[in-house]
Amino acid sequence: MAGSIPAVADLLAAARFRFGQEFGGDAPQVAVCAPGRVNLIGEHTDYNQGFVLPMALPLVTVVVGKQVPGLDVTVVTATEDADEPRRVDFVLPPLGSPLPPLESPRWANYVKGVIQHYRGPPVRGFKAVVVSSVPLGGGLSSSASLEVAFYTFLQQLHPDDGDLVSKAVACQQAEHSHAGVPCGIMDQFVSVLGQAGHALLIDCRSLEFSTVPLLDPALVVLVTDSNVKHRLTGSEYPSRRKQCQEAASTLGRDSLREASMEDLQEARSRMDDETFRRAHHVIQEIRRTLDAVEALKRRDYHQFGRLMVQSHESLRDLYQVSCSELDQLVSAAMEVEGVYGSRMTGGGFGGCTVTLLQASAVHRAILHLQERYSGTPTFFVTTASEGARALTFDL
Ligand code: GLA
Repeated sequence: MAGSIPAVADLLAAARFRFGQEFGGDAPQVAVCAPGRVNLIGEHTDYNQGFVLPMALPLVTVVVGKQVPGLDVTVVTATEDADEPRRVDFVLPPLGSPLPPLESPRWANYVKGVIQHYRGPPVRGFKAVVVSSVPLGGGLSSSASLEVAFYTFLQQLHPDDGDLVSKAVACQQAEHSHAGVPCGIMDQFVSVLGQAGHALLIDCRSLEFSTVPLLDPALVVLVTDSNVKHRLTGSEYPSRRKQCQEAASTLGRDSLREASMEDLQEARSRMDDETFRRAHHVIQEIRRTLDAVEALKRRDYHQFGRLMVQSHESLRDLYQVSCSELDQLVSAAMEVEGVYGSRMTGGGFGGCTVTLLQASAVHRAILHLQERYSGTPTFFVTTASEGARALTFDL
């Protein structure tokens, strides 16, 4: 009933097999993986220097490969839904020259971006295969997991200084320059630094973080994919970012992190209504995230759930990044006994909801959502998982 989450060992075996098929029976020498993420609360706050509370998922992107002499790169993706062609060959440019993105295939631009922003010694030729269980365009950070997996792969070939926060920032830069998405730091950060059994509270201003335990066996984080695909390269995400910057500058602040609701009310007449509503969401969402962390630490799941629902309503009404399918899934989830809270997660306009509920309620929640949702949802019963890592072939 719930979408099954393939074991990392199975993805690794599939990647290794495909590598042999693509490269005349050759065997890969290194293997890595990096997870997708679900954000529990703190949406559209990262690029406002605020707080976020994501956790890494057991859904991962695996890369296997080996170095080759010279500067030729061949990368193959076995990822379903990736755009064609799924095998690309290119030559690395001379040191210091850019490796520009191309119109297609889009998936290869993430690889190029990571090569360009890699912080270690110059990258040399390699061949690699990518396999992923993170649904593409599903709001679970398939792109960040690909970037971070590739960065981790390059670290095995040519080690950098190992600084993890700088690694996340380099992967974020890859997304900016090569996918054209001016994303915040959340997705790459948690894909690099996620910890099993914990959510991460990230301060997106200082880039400091702390872990918040999520180990209660009576509690489940259910991810529901609406299967409405979203693409953040549209104008909506950059325009929200711009409105937030405008609001901050009207308030005379560097970012909305520095602003209070009193500041915003006082400046109301100096901004248009839409900008006001965007800032309203962000300022309250930053506060809500900190309140939610306190609730989680006290195991006050009812309070955490209430904050999730408030977050969703604010994203729907003030920030306007939800859609009818996500709203339907959230309302339906809240009708189920044993559900604490539910909200859209990620950039919005499709993708997934995240629901916090009692383990004993999972079965009936899934049945109810299937019955009430107009589309066909996919479910993932998730656990907070580890960040990116090298893998050994004897998994
Ligand atoms: C996308 C971006 C993140 C973040 C979320 C919204 O996932 O990649 O940086 O801004 O949207 O919270």
